[in-house]
Amino acid sequence: EQFFAAGNNLDKKKIMVTAGPTYERIDPVRFIGNFSSGKMGFALAEECASRGAEVILITGPTALSASHPNILRVNVESAVEMYDAALKIFPQMDAAILSAAVADYRPEQMSEEKIKRSGNEHLSLSLVPNPDIAASLGKIKKPGQLTVGFALETNNEESNAIKKIKEKNFDYIVLNSLNDQGAGFGHDTNQVTILSRNDEKRSFALKSKSDVAKDIIDTALRQLTVDS
Ligand code: CTP
Ligand code: CA
Repeated sequence: EQFFAAGNNLDKKKIMVTAGPTYERIDPVRFIGNFSSGKMGFALAEECASRGAEVILITGPTALSASHPNILRVNVESAVEMYDAALKIFPQMDAAILSAAVADYRPEQMSEEKIKRSGNEHLSLSLVPNPDIAASLGKIKKPGQLTVGFALETNNEESNAIKKIKEKNFDYIVLNSLNDQGAGFGHDTNQVTILSRNDEKRSFALKSKSDVAKDIIDTALRQLTVDS
């Protein structure tokens, strides 16, 4: 165990991380989005890279920048673009961490022209479902590949998270707490509980997203680590 530097225990492992929100275009100047900052996903990418992994970070629109040279950043805008990139990249990966806040729906049609106020007393948008990236990866996952998901629930948190482990064939799911001040969307801190497909459960204190990233990697990527 002590022959390996603690910081190097994901040496040469290939890890894909999805991060940030997706933007679903309504017309050339408008979109449907969400408040995801991408901070948790970027922190995970940085921590994996600093442990020696080769990271592919597929990110929706965010102001963040990735600093580690072992992070290859793939910028996408919509859920469909993120889906296309993720499905292409995943077969070469040892693990995927799905931290993106993917829009569940997109406008059925993108208007080529700016939608005008005049002549639209009432306006309704018709939405169609986006592909489920995590569930699709769960279906093509090979033995030895790991997938780790996230969930943010407002009620029946643990049972909903456990349902998602099964539906999406995750090895682990990270349940974000909504209850604590300073946790989640836009914040620099997070409070998580990690559940496994084998009914293990670990709860962690409120801490910085970079420390949460360490806990997630120590727990959910443990079987990938070269010194385990
Ligand atoms: N996810 C994904 N692709 C989607 C939707 C979700 O990859 N189209 C991933 C998220 O990145 C996350 C996990 O699935 O890791 C759970 O996301 P969540 O939004 O909680 O789950 P949904 O299945 O969309 O269910 P809900 O109706 O609760 O939003
Ligand atoms: Ca969702």
